[in-house]
Amino acid sequence: MKNIIIAIDGYSSSGKSSMAKWLAARIGYRYIDSGAMYRAVTLYAMRNGMIHPDGSVDDQAIVKSLPLIKIDFKVDRQSDSQATMLNGEIVESEIRDMPVSNNVSAVAAIPAVRHALVDMQQAFGNEKGIVMDGRDIGTTVFPNAEMKVFVNASPQTRAQRRLLELSAKGVATTFEEVLANVVHRDHIDTTRAESPLRRAEDAIELDNSNMSIEEQSDWLLKLFNKISSCNN
Ligand code: DC
Repeated sequence: MKNIIIAIDGYSSSGKSSMAKWLAARIGYRYIDSGAMYRAVTLYAMRNGMIHPDGSVDDQAIVKSLPLIKIDFKVDRQSDSQATMLNGEIVESEIRDMPVSNNVSAVAAIPAVRHALVDMQQAFGNEKGIVMDGRDIGTTVFPNAEMKVFVNASPQTRAQRRLLELSAKGVATTFEEVLANVVHRDHIDTTRAESPLRRAEDAIELDNSNMSIEEQSDWLLKLFNKISSCNN
């Protein structure tokens, strides 16, 4: 069967990463979390004093550092999981914490950061057989992807999901704080000048607010089977 490119875009904490990860494992494709790449650049910037306590971002310093930032994914075949690496260090846990979450949208809005990461993301797609999730995968990174999905859910549902994830990790936060972060990121992601979050015209939309994980998985696999049979 011919390998294809699968682009899964959507709002933060919409469940798109879980869906993308599950589908990739199920069909034997490589999964790439493009949001993790923006988070890794943000962590680098925070560690190097390029994001100030008031939230202001030194765009120029970040852009100058881009050649020094190497991002990769370490795959653990046994557990079928992968960890984000920043200059050889595993940063998977740190990039999911609130300080990075609070700053990442501002970093992701810098055009030169986007250009550098889009180039890397496109290189991952050279071999096809990948599932990539993010905000602009179906519009900018792979506008010719054979399968495009746009995932959405209400802000309250997404905040609740994120709160559960953070609580499971022992991060102390409140529903109100997480909801404010979700709403703030939605605003920046959809209004930035460079590749704002939007549904590609040919993407199939899924609102999973009231769907179980099993229902989402079933929906996704059926769509994949339909599209891949048309591409053979
Ligand atoms: O999917 P996530 O929440 O881990 O993404 C982190 C941030 O990165 C989010 O604020 C939007 C941004 N992002 C982006 O602008 N483009 C992508 N392709 C992926 C993520």
